[in-house]
Amino acid sequence: MAIRDIVPFPDPILKQRCAEVEVFDAELHQLLDDMADTMGEADGLGLAANQVGVSLRIFVMDVPIDDDTRTGRIEVINPKVKAKRGEIKYEEGCLSFPGVHENVIRAAELDLDFVDRQGQPQAVTARGLVAVCIQHELDHLDGITFVDRLSPLKRRIVLRDYLRENRELIEDAQHKARLRARQTGVQG
Ligand code: NI
Repeated sequence: MAIRDIVPFPDPILKQRCAEVEVFDAELHQLLDDMADTMGEADGLGLAANQVGVSLRIFVMDVPIDDDTRTGRIEVINPKVKAKRGEIKYEEGCLSFPGVHENVIRAAELDLDFVDRQGQPQAVTARGLVAVCIQHELDHLDGITFVDRLSPLKRRIVLRDYLRENRELIEDAQHKARLRARQTGVQG
């Protein structure tokens, strides 16, 4: 069990498009296990890989995926939306935005193709909360956060309050990011 640090907004990794997973090895499995542990510890419904600093098209969720599968986590790698239907409004939160909860309008139902940790193709039709969570996580993989789905005015107010209320958390995360960059010799 390993809990990874959750990257808070406005870390630039949250605004970058994540890369496809091409290697399905032990390192990937470790990342998936750590993401599930991190999500559980943080009491989240979903977590995208870039939220733990890994820019890959991966997310984990802990919501029932359909009426037959009431429990258990799901691991989604290289997802592709095949179809969207309807509309639903839901109050969303995000582990990268502590304290922020806002209504977002999304598709009420969607068909999703993805692969599992072995690289095997999977498909699912999701509705309601599950569909909402999937779309929230899919956005993360494209460098979009849920505040980007708010009106410009609403977004400005939400971000102003968020940045004011989480100054210490954000500065601490930026400090850690600088240390990591120095260790790996990466500039910025
Ligand atoms: Ni999120």
